[in-house]
Amino acid sequence: MSTPVMTPRLSDTELRAIAKLVYEKSGIVLHDGKRELITSRLQKRLRHLGLATYAEYLKLAERDPAELVTLLDSIATNHTHFFREARHFEILTSRVLQTAAARRGGELRGWCAACSTGEEPYTILMSLLEAGCGGVRLLASDMSTKALATAKSGVYRLDKMTDVPKAYLPKYFEKGLGAQAGLARVQPSLRRLVEFRALNLLEVTSLGQQFDFIFCRNVMIYFDKAVQQRVVSMLERHLAPGGYLFIAHSESLNGITHGLATIAPAAFQRRAA
Ligand SMILES: C[S@@+](CC[C@H](N)C(=O)[O-])C[C@H]1O[C@@H](n2cnc3c(N)ncnc32)[C@H](O)[C@@H]1O
Repeated sequence: MSTPVMTPRLSDTELRAIAKLVYEKSGIVLHDGKRELITSRLQKRLRHLGLATYAEYLKLAERDPAELVTLLDSIATNHTHFFREARHFEILTSRVLQTAAARRGGELRGWCAACSTGEEPYTILMSLLEAGCGGVRLLASDMSTKALATAKSGVYRLDKMTDVPKAYLPKYFEKGLGAQAGLARVQPSLRRLVEFRALNLLEVTSLGQQFDFIFCRNVMIYFDKAVQQRVVSMLERHLAPGGYLFIAHSESLNGITHGLATIAPAAFQRRAA
């Protein structure tokens, strides 16, 4: 007879303790309504580790940095897609490309600051190259090592790539054959232009460089105002004079102190020096 699988119950105290840890380490706010999300995402992990309670799991996550990453990975929403909120890529190829190109002979430096599984940084690169950008270096970061592994591999399901213009497919992707049928891999020439790095926005103080543009979209929506302020100030310090910041259209900088000028919905520019 097989042993019955026990489903651990998440107490209110455990829920609050998990929410506190997640907030302190990532800035993500988990409201009480997130009980189902937490249980559905962590239950499997507890079973896998043979732990009977969430309290035991919490202790493990607090003392083991690798488990903390797994915990944050399972809580964070990684949803993204190619050419998401496409208006920003038009601004990138008109305003951003023109200003910076004029300044430094075509060499652009960008940061995609919560890049998830990579569709956003690859969209940035394809857009810039299509617009004739002469040179670009892109840093793409996320706190999720799991998402970054997908981003680095650059392998995507073709049926999830419907937003990629048809003409870009043979140019920037290699179609999988045989066991890889239905998949496409980003061409090495495009992958070479991006450096993927694990970075937690809460832990970045200085990257030692400034960027012509920063994309930080669909992540601040999970933060409260205090964390948003901290992150926006940090991003602003990383913008070169005249540099651009893109946030998501569902996000806003209302109530945040900053010195940026609004140039379009969810698009901002640091004043030139
Ligand atoms: C919904 S995805 C957004 C992806 C992409 N920027 C877009 O707009 O499609 C949010 C990403 O933010 C990341 N994230 C959440 N909190 C973070 C933090 N404190 N530091 C860095 N990345 C974080 C998550 O791991 C996730 O990959």
